Parts: sequence; structure tokens; C-alpha cells
Amino acid sequence: MQDHSLIPAAIEWPTADATRVPFEVFTDPELYAREQQVLFRGPTWNFVALDIEIPDPGDYKTSFVGDTPVLVTRDQDGTVHCMVNRCAHRGSALKFDGSGNTQDLTCVYHNWRYDLAGNLQSVAFQHGVRQVGGMPPDFDLARHNLRRARVEVFHGLVFATFSDETPPLREYLGERMASHIARVLNRPIRILGTYSQTLHSNWKLYMENVKDSYHASLLHTFFSTFKLNRLSMQGGVLVDGGGAHHLSWSRRGTDTAAGTEYEKAGELRAQLDDFTLADPTLIKSWLEYDDGITHSIQSIFPCFVLQQIQNSLAVRLLVPRSVDESELFWIVFGYADDTPEQYDMRLRQSNLIGPAGLVSMEDGIIGNFIQRSVHREQGRSAILEMGGKEVEDQQSRVSEAGVRGFWQAYRARMDI
Ligand code: FES
Ligand SMILES: [Fe+2]
Repeated sequence: MQDHSLIPAAIEWPTADATRVPFEVFTDPELYAREQQVLFRGPTWNFVALDIEIPDPGDYKTSFVGDTPVLVTRDQDGTVHCMVNRCAHRGSALKFDGSGNTQDLTCVYHNWRYDLAGNLQSVAFQHGVRQVGGMPPDFDLARHNLRRARVEVFHGLVFATFSDETPPLREYLGERMASHIARVLNRPIRILGTYSQTLHSNWKLYMENVKDSYHASLLHTFFSTFKLNRLSMQGGVLVDGGGAHHLSWSRRGTDTAAGTEYEKAGELRAQLDDFTLADPTLIKSWLEYDDGITHSIQSIFPCFVLQQIQNSLAVRLLVPRSVDESELFWIVFGYADDTPEQYDMRLRQSNLIGPAGLVSMEDGIIGNFIQRSVHREQGRSAILEMGGKEVEDQQSRVSEAGVRGFWQAYRARMDI
């Protein structure tokens, strides 16, 4: 059963549909606490690791489910486990250093020791010293294991859930979202690098941004100036899971700018036709998949993103830190069978994406532009009517359907 005892001061939603979002949802600390309980520790699947990050028995990685620190481990028999990174004794974190290999999980504070599945194996001085001191005789090790999450692995993505009510992962994803994951993670991958960035904004502002296909070629001037991604290309948006998940896609080289805002000089801030790149190798690419899709951004509710921007492939995990701060973890990857030329091109394209990326650095700050502007705006709302008022698939990316979908799913799950 979910515990609804954290119901915050009621948020007044101005509309029955998802075309308005009251700004308080980004600033209310009680709502943030409730999200941790109802969403992140409730019936959702949360991405926690790639299975190739922990390839061998004894490997572990620290990660997060919402703002709850977790440990992801690989057992001696290959099973992947996920558990709260908190000693059952007095609550110390068990691992601090990101990743490594270990025989067991021993707490630094008083040396309680757990196996890789989180079962308490021993308590230092359980029977005292020469039978003096120690734990009471009825202390039962088996009742003090680490708090475990359910784990499922799909195409190398490790997901965890703390709720028994979460449906099987495949069902949670749905057919179309699962098949897109299978499209990108179609063969063994190789990690090219990892990094994280602090976002000075509520986590939902970043998830809105990811699902917002309208902004991509307007906020990101590099995209439209160098014709990598424009709204006038073939593309669309899929929304699934009651709006929870989304996939936006486009095909470079199908641009039909004629008759659009892109043709009107001075109309768009994002249009800078007199710019050229001194080093065009930065955007050199090859067609990655047979379907011709050159850009696809997929989000799985609540906080997972799978990215294909030309040949820049990455998974992103968003971790809420507080009501107005988040951390975004990136794992950039290619395929194990990449040629040296492909490897080199992926690295070059990685300069375009991420916190300092020429294409997308703006995404790191835009949430803060909102956060700092709305914190006193009680009773006011954002408008989400681009592409209509519905939550449904779109033939065009001039649409906020993915963002409306997020709020529809959020409200249903949060019961507000
Ligand atoms: S807090 Fe971990 S052993 Fe005491
Ligand atoms: Fe963006």
C-alpha cells in the first residue's frame, strides 16, 4: 500500500486537462517530499545503471532512485541487485566511491557486513567480548537486511522499483517504447565516458524540457543555424503510458523550410544564416540506423532519457536533490563493433551535447530561468497548448503534447 500521509497543501490545478501547470509545482517542498514517496518509491521503474557498468561478480555501482541513494551490485551467480545504500544499524552509507569490486558490503562505522544481495551476514561483537556485552540473545540477523528493490534488466538497462504494485517492466514500457529501446540498444555497447551536471532547478523542469520538441530548434541556435535539426524536417512525437513516456524523432536531410518561419529574415532568434563552421568535422556523421531517423529523444517516466543525436548516443538519469536542485548523470556510449573512424566521429559529436555542448548547453540553464522567475508566482500557470490540447501522437514536433503527457501522468499518479 502506498502511504499518502504526505499530502501537501492542496495544489489548485486550474484546468481539468494538462494545458495549464500551476507554478507552485516547481517550488512546493511538501509536494517534493510527496513525489519521493508516491512516484519514486511508488509503482514506477527507475533506471539505475547499465549492466555493462557492473560486468563481473562483486561489481557494484552507487546510484539513485529519486533522491534515495542505492547500491547496484552483481552477485556471484550474475544476478543484479539493487538496495538502499544505508546500513541497517545506524544508517551510514555503505559505499561512497561510485563503483568498484567487493566481496561483501561492510559498513565503515561498526563493521556490520552484508552479502551482495543485501543480507546481513555478521554483526561485529554480536556476542560481546568473552560473553560480556553484545547484542541481546534474541537479535535476529535475518530481520535486518538492507532494503531491497525489485530489479529488471531490459536490453542492458537496469531498472529498479521499491513497489510490489509496479507491473512487469515490459508492460510498464509498452510495445512502442520497448521497441525503440531495442532499436538503439540493438547490440553490445561500449561506454565512451560519463559526467554529471548540477541543474539549479526542480527536476520536473528538466523532464519538461526533454519532452518539449517545440524548443529544440528555437532555444538551440546551433541546431537550426547549421541545419542539424529544424521543425520543418520530417518528424513527430509519440506519447505512451497515459502520457508518461515519450519519443520525439526527426530525419535530417528532409528539410522543407519553404513557407515556414525559417524563411522569414529576422523572424527567429535561432536563425543565423551567415554563420559557417571553420571545422565541419564537428558535425560529420553517418546514418546510424536503416530507418533514416537522425534524432530521437525518448523519455521513460519518471527520470530516464535515451538519446540519439546523429551519432551521439547517451543515456541520462535525472536525480532530484531538493525542490530547486537536481543532478543529471550522463553515460555516453557507442557500439563494441564501432570502427576507429566511427569511434572518433562519436567523440567529436559529443562536443555538441551535454553541459558544455554547442547544441544543448542551454538546456542546463533554461530550467533555472524558470525556477528563479516563478518562485513568487502563486496562483499563476504555464500554458501548454502548442499542437492542441490533447495528449496523443503528433505528426509534427511543433507541439507540446509530450509535456502535456508528462503532466497528465504526473497528476494521475500523484492524485492531484
Ligand atoms: S552504522 Fe553501519 S555498522 Fe553501525
Ligand atoms: Fe533542448
